[in-house]
Amino acid sequence: MKNNLPPRHRVITTADGSITFFSEQFQETCHSTSGAKAETLLHYVKGCQIEEKLTEKESITILEVGFGLGLGFLTTYEVLKNQQKRWRFISLELDEDLLKWFVSEYANLLSLENIQWIDHGSFKVFQAQNELVELIILCGDARQTLPTFMKTNSDRWDAIYQDAFSPRRNPILWTKEWFSLLKKFSAPEVILATYSSSSSIRKSLIEAGWSVHPGEKFGPKRSSTRASLTGHTDEEVLLHLNRSPVEALSDDNVAAFLRNFKDGK
Ligand SMILES: C[S@@+](CC[C@H](N)C(=O)[O-])C[C@H]1O[C@@H](n2cnc3c(N)ncnc32)[C@H](O)[C@@H]1O
Repeated sequence: MKNNLPPRHRVITTADGSITFFSEQFQETCHSTSGAKAETLLHYVKGCQIEEKLTEKESITILEVGFGLGLGFLTTYEVLKNQQKRWRFISLELDEDLLKWFVSEYANLLSLENIQWIDHGSFKVFQAQNELVELIILCGDARQTLPTFMKTNSDRWDAIYQDAFSPRRNPILWTKEWFSLLKKFSAPEVILATYSSSSSIRKSLIEAGWSVHPGEKFGPKRSSTRASLTGHTDEEVLLHLNRSPVEALSDDNVAAFLRNFKDGK
């Protein structure tokens, strides 16, 4: 690493040798310590069938929830770089210091050009491109930036990397209202992937109109989640959710959800 770390972050080397950051603000690492890169490849790049999607289409658009240190973008880039097709990566990030760190670390390496910080009224949009990819990062609270940005953008997402911090640390990015917003701007064949397999999150997805399937296990976690807008929710997942007393997470019950964690329920 060439440059100073972004403020309020520590570097953690994970089990596959790749690094992640620990966020002092959210009190959580950005990836599994069992392997940041391996987890990203398994859950997002493979989980969303990115290579297959770009093989089938002229071009694809990926939405990522939480840019972090840029590992989702970098891992996707590594996998797609031999396909000489253009693609677009839109990401959402609260912390501008992370983006500045990413630019100083990788802009030259990736030959990123036309780097711009565009003023979008209440927030900034970072844009850059090279011969293969257009990278767009909305800088600010995703619950505000994304709906505002989509008023003037016609992209429909082919894949969604739902990679916010855990529901306990970052609940507003896991509610049914959030998943409804993601649905609104998704292509019909979209795949949404996330590391979380929490029942309340799966219920939120279903209430927002997604079909839910179990994803691969990684590290100590027993499962993960994939969601689509076609087909039906997996039978076993449904059976399990029907037996589970937890409620779908919604904007209305975030406070109660956090209280339950505090009370150890
Ligand atoms: C788990 S990390 C993402 C890791 C990233 N995908 C990567 O591969 O490096 C979650 C990120 O979401 C960002 N975040 C948290 N709350 C947010 C919000 N309301 N809007 C936008 N970004 C947010 C955090 O700053 C953090 O960088």
